[in-house]
Amino acid sequence: MWPNLLMYLLFLALPCTISGYQVLHLADFHLDIQYSIHGDNKKMCHDDGQPRNQTLGEFGDYMCDAPKPLIQHAINESARLFPNPDLIIWTGDNVAHIEGYGWEVVLDAVNQTTSLLFSRFPNQTILPTFGNHDYAPSNGFESESSLYTKTWELWKQKLGDENKATFLKGGYYKYRLQNATAVVLNTNLYYNANKAYVNFTNKIDPADQFAFLETELANAERCPNRISENCTSLVHIIAHIAPGAFEKTPNITWFRDEYNEKFLNLTVRYANSIGWMIFGHHHTDTFHLIKDSKENVVQLALMSPAVTPWFSTLPGAGANNPTFRVYDTDTYSKIEDIKTYFINLDELNKNSSTPFVFEYSFKDAYGITGDITPLAMSGILEKMKTDDSLFKKYIDYNTAFWNPQMPVKEYRGAQLCSMEYADYPRYYSCMSKYTKSSDSSLKLPIFSLLTILYTEFVL
Ligand SMILES: *[C@@H]1O[C@H](CO)[C@@H](O)[C@H](O)[C@H]1NC(C)=O
Ligand SMILES: *[C@@H]1O[C@H](CO)[C@@H](O)[C@H](O)[C@H]1NC(C)=O
Ligand SMILES: *[C@@H]1O[C@H](CO)[C@@H](O)[C@H](O)[C@H]1NC(C)=O
Ligand SMILES: *[C@@H]1O[C@H](CO)[C@@H](O)[C@H](O)[C@H]1NC(C)=O
Ligand SMILES: *[C@@H]1O[C@H](CO)[C@@H](O)[C@H](O)[C@H]1NC(C)=O
Ligand SMILES: *[C@@H]1O[C@H](CO)[C@@H](O)[C@H](O)[C@H]1NC(C)=O
Ligand SMILES: *[C@@H]1O[C@H](CO)[C@@H](O)[C@H](O)[C@H]1NC(C)=O
Ligand SMILES: *[C@@H]1O[C@H](CO)[C@@H](O)[C@H](O)[C@H]1NC(C)=O
Ligand SMILES: *[C@@H]1O[C@H](CO)[C@@H](O)[C@H](O)[C@H]1NC(C)=O
Ligand SMILES: *[C@@H]1O[C@H](CO)[C@@H](O)[C@H](O)[C@H]1NC(C)=O
Repeated sequence: MWPNLLMYLLFLALPCTISGYQVLHLADFHLDIQYSIHGDNKKMCHDDGQPRNQTLGEFGDYMCDAPKPLIQHAINESARLFPNPDLIIWTGDNVAHIEGYGWEVVLDAVNQTTSLLFSRFPNQTILPTFGNHDYAPSNGFESESSLYTKTWELWKQKLGDENKATFLKGGYYKYRLQNATAVVLNTNLYYNANKAYVNFTNKIDPADQFAFLETELANAERCPNRISENCTSLVHIIAHIAPGAFEKTPNITWFRDEYNEKFLNLTVRYANSIGWMIFGHHHTDTFHLIKDSKENVVQLALMSPAVTPWFSTLPGAGANNPTFRVYDTDTYSKIEDIKTYFINLDELNKNSSTPFVFEYSFKDAYGITGDITPLAMSGILEKMKTDDSLFKKYIDYNTAFWNPQMPVKEYRGAQLCSMEYADYPRYYSCMSKYTKSSDSSLKLPIFSLLTILYTEFVL
């Protein structure tokens, strides 16, 4: 009797303890140690010694990158809401959007964010990734950089000796989860702004990272019984920059053409062996469908919004409220829901005890009945095209309620086409339909002139 009763009680207790895993994702801190409440918010909130009548907020300004208190508050709040996440994904960009800095700035920013995160979550698995700004100067990623050697010292305890070789070679690695393998990539190597491209010795496959990814995907495809000692049948891809286009600015893409194509070719070929594809970089909340050549939706890339509120001057872009998110997953295979938390920066500056609050759940907001799958999100996108109230919801969440405005003409195209096509040929073809409707020749010359002047000024 007793054993049975115990079994029964245990069974009742089980669902609460092992029903699923929570994966916390923090993206784009962009710590600016020069942020000053006496600064100029048109100059990154740096103090230039000029007298000002008004001080800026202690926790940041929508025009600028994050001061340390904002990052600390975001990490504190994520730990308050999720004291024991099963996994933490940290998709990079720790350095501010500044120019002319050296390695000491990069290493200091990475060191500070590492300390904040690791000390708040001492016992958690944390998977760090480089962002394109985590380099001196930014966007200069090479294979075999001193950055990798220095950050290895900070992160090696979390990553394990077996990853040393790939990490030092190109800042990428893998991590075996209970039921899947996380492949954490340094996609800054593929960024079209990466100035080190001229020096790549292997331009086809910088740092042999594609070969690494393909090996892992092929292993997963061959792995028997979904899971065994030496392999898993599922690979989750985690990186800073995603393949595909920026959703807020028409015709802005990240990867060089050939790398985007190669990345997507691999994604399509091994779509069944890929679980999640998780990224940051946009600072905004969006997703990309990945389609095969026959227009079948085979994969989904999820972009997490940022902690930094920084105002991007790209046309149609802007700022965002600080956020972080949590993925609910069964056994590291399906994503059951995605819950995003945010804080209104103005409120936080008025009251330093303002908590991060629940923003939305994919499942509830979009009315998804099953898991968050490529097909489910494809269904949502199709609906958004005609259902303005659904599209408006997405637009609200896109910036975590910072100045949400329904995009029109090519800006609407940028949103919808970037979500529908991560490959450039079909993205551009989709975009060409939107520009036709926007008849710029009808604009008054003064408007065009202003637009040009404005664009030049803010870029
Ligand atoms: C500060 O306020 C005074 C009075 O309104 C104004 O004359 C002055 O130009 C302001 N100074 C700055 C630096 O904005
Ligand atoms: C974050 O938490 C730490 C430790 O509890 C505390 O010392 C610090 O003041 C908090 N910082 C912010 C910005 O909330
Ligand atoms: C990181 O910070 C710690 C503690 O502040 C310091 O001891 C260490 O030298 C720093 N490391 C780097 C690489 O800056
Ligand atoms: C982390 O683990 C250590 C050793 O198991 C334990 O003493 C400590 O309390 C844990 N810290 C937290 C914050 O859970
Ligand atoms: C390319 O390599 C040369 C020779 O080492 C170096 O001088 C140059 O700065 C490098 N260029 C970039 C963009 O990294
Ligand atoms: C793992 O082991 C299985 C069974 O022994 C084998 O079939 C498979 O090829 C191995 N996979 C890898 C990646 O070594
Ligand atoms: C991608 O796949 C297509 C179709 O198989 C092929 O023609 C193309 O060369 C591949 N592109 C790259 C960059 O590997
Ligand atoms: C791994 O995933 C499979 C399929 O989702 C599931 O049946 C199995 O229970 C999982 N195993 C572990 C150890 O979580
Ligand atoms: C500041 O926010 C906290 C938490 O929401 C609240 O309890 C407190 O009353 C607020 N203080 C003021 C002065 O509004
Ligand atoms: C974007 O690119 C497409 C394809 O080249 C072109 O037709 C369209 O005019 C471009 N849109 C803008 C806003 O530049």
